Amino acid sequence: APVLAGRRRAAGVVPAAFSVPMTVPAELRPVRSTRDADHYRLVAAPAWAEILPGVRTPVLAYNGTFPGPTIRARAGRRAVVEYVNRLGEPTTVHLHGGEVWPEDDGGPMDLVAPGTARRYRYPDRQRAATLWYHDHAHHLESEHVYRGLAGTYVLHDRHEAALGLPSGRYDVPIVLKDARFGADGGLVYLPGDFGGRTTILVNGRPQPYFRVAARKYRLRLLNAANMRFFNARLSTGDAFQQIATDRGLLPAPLTTTELPLSPGERADIVVDFSRYEPGTRIVLRNGFSTHPATDAILRFDVCGRVRDGSRVPERLAALPALRPATVTREFRLSMDERTGMGFINGRAFDAARIDFTVARGAAETWRIVNDNQVIEHNFHVHLAGFRVLERNGGPPLPTERGLKDTVMLPPGGSVRIRVSFDPRYRGDYVYHCHVIDHSSMGMMGRFRVA
Ligand code: C2O
Ligand code: CU
Repeated sequence: APVLAGRRRAAGVVPAAFSVPMTVPAELRPVRSTRDADHYRLVAAPAWAEILPGVRTPVLAYNGTFPGPTIRARAGRRAVVEYVNRLGEPTTVHLHGGEVWPEDDGGPMDLVAPGTARRYRYPDRQRAATLWYHDHAHHLESEHVYRGLAGTYVLHDRHEAALGLPSGRYDVPIVLKDARFGADGGLVYLPGDFGGRTTILVNGRPQPYFRVAARKYRLRLLNAANMRFFNARLSTGDAFQQIATDRGLLPAPLTTTELPLSPGERADIVVDFSRYEPGTRIVLRNGFSTHPATDAILRFDVCGRVRDGSRVPERLAALPALRPATVTREFRLSMDERTGMGFINGRAFDAARIDFTVARGAAETWRIVNDNQVIEHNFHVHLAGFRVLERNGGPPLPTERGLKDTVMLPPGGSVRIRVSFDPRYRGDYVYHCHVIDHSSMGMMGRFRVA
């Protein structure tokens, strides 16, 4: 009976903001560990999730949870994901931000058929970072990710552990998404659903509240939304510290009052709640929101005080040296506003076409332009990390000065990036707009590292 009552209450509406507590995605324990590798079992299957209070919503889940469980891997140890596809459609698992061999990349054409299993091996030679894993089956990925096939993948290393940053229960993944609910509480998937009054979800709950102790927290922000851009701000206007971007720690913490994140981007921030009295309520807001209903992301309710003498160190981690580029390329992103078809340099995705070849271990300068005057895009490349050199001919945003793998492109905007390839990897990979509905509509291409 409570379920039915809940369903009626949910009829196409959403609960008032801050009426449900935030949850933290479960951590996935290895099913087996060998001397140098940890094996994780990941099963994609239909499931029910309680997203709206008292309502059972059908989702696509990894290991039954929405979003998927958090994998915490250690640099220097291989992670092996033993994946089982129990969905009725082909899927892949892509480790976004991972430096992996092409056969383990889970790219759009390397499908795992319904009812079959697949092993993905991740070398984990990378520095500590917040990565994520998600479905990438071409054309299906947008609906799959929307319905739940995404989770956080945290890489830890010794250097970072020695810095004394907030850890354990004070190191919290914050997976940002948005969704639209039908009268029956089901998720309504509308391709190209952008900027409307969707419901903001944090770790799978609608605009929740989070009871925090008066101390420092590390929040790992991941924009896992299909299309929504976030600009994280505190309602008090207070500053917080950004300590990491897509591919790991910044050289030094950045004090900022706002943090923009386009789909696929990550940023780790440290918020010091010890400066607030217990009882204080602070809302994390989306500065990009154009509607009050989607402006609030999450409310922090400061409760107990915890002894916290910690400081964020002034020096975090040196970035790899910027290597000189041998090649310059240009990519122009465009979308036909009538048909919704996406193009890069005038061409839509074609699985049979390799657009260009990069020399193994090369560094290249890429200029990326958003040719649309009203549509927002961004740009993600598999395998390689990059540094943003320039934005619209000027300096990059302060928040994008670390090692990146995804970069925002507002209408008419452009960036110049220095992409750096690790000589240990070669093969075929993809690059695309990470507004997922755009890549499924063609805004993607393949390249070869040879
Ligand atoms: Cu997060 Cu090609 O993707
Ligand atoms: Cu796009």
